[in-house]
Amino acid sequence: MAASGEPGKQKQEDVAAVVVVGSCMTDLVSLTSRLPKTGETIHGHKFFIGFGGKGANQCVQAARLGAKTSMVCKVGKDSFGNDYIENLKQNGISTEFTYQTKDAATGTASIIVNNEGQNIIVIVAGANLLLNTEDLREAASAISRTKVMICQLEVAPATSLEALTIAHSNGVKTLFNPAPAMADLDPRFYTLSDVFCCNESEAEILTGLEVSSPEDAGKAALVLTERGCRVVIVTLGAEGCVMLSQTETVPKHIPAEKVKAVDTTIPYISNTTNLAFLE
Ligand SMILES: *[C@@H]1O[C@H](CO)[C@@H](O)[C@H](O)[C@H]1NC(C)=O
Repeated sequence: MAASGEPGKQKQEDVAAVVVVGSCMTDLVSLTSRLPKTGETIHGHKFFIGFGGKGANQCVQAARLGAKTSMVCKVGKDSFGNDYIENLKQNGISTEFTYQTKDAATGTASIIVNNEGQNIIVIVAGANLLLNTEDLREAASAISRTKVMICQLEVAPATSLEALTIAHSNGVKTLFNPAPAMADLDPRFYTLSDVFCCNESEAEILTGLEVSSPEDAGKAALVLTERGCRVVIVTLGAEGCVMLSQTETVPKHIPAEKVKAVDTTIPYISNTTNLAFLE
């Protein structure tokens, strides 16, 4: 799918197949032998900066799987924001609708991890919360012509809802990852989701049901399809996932291949390698 044609004129093959509307976070990670107490200053033995945020992680993963992608997001007009845009470009992602604002800092996750792998994390969403419906109207040319639009809940819910609405009304397949989960999710999120993909704890928060087995996950997925999602996928870590749809109403358990776990804290620590597609 090589891009061709004169600049300025967008041909069909120049349109991204996957558009992600979501978050970018700079991870500031310090490794220490133990976590500090209140008021205490301690020395760590290693520091690194990583590129994270659920939205950008999903976009990078889609790009690495070979899709032409575009990231609709907002970072600060600061060095973290500049570096983030460079990182997206290096991953072959279109930054045409990656906005920069002077009004807030680039989103950050300050993370301290001790030798046992326990961590404390402070997230400041910053510029992510300023991505607004006006920005989406500008990006509508990409959102309305893509194949798949993906969003999550690390930007303002109203923004994700608008992205889903634009995609849905243009016949674009929508994939919604309700993370981080909120119990009182606007019911339109369900009806606008072609694929609704959550993990077990998110399924619990959304349905109020306990989810600790593939069987439980099937029951939760049924509740979610009844709310209007076309397809529901509940991810279960080492147990794989359970899938259910409005047309295939018997839950299907898809086991995961056995792997040697290198790092189970993927949402934060391994963001540097952007391994997390859906979590
Ligand atoms: C599910 O995802 C959330 C992030 O939205 C994460 O905090 C939580 O640990 C995950 N739950 C499981 C069981 O992996």
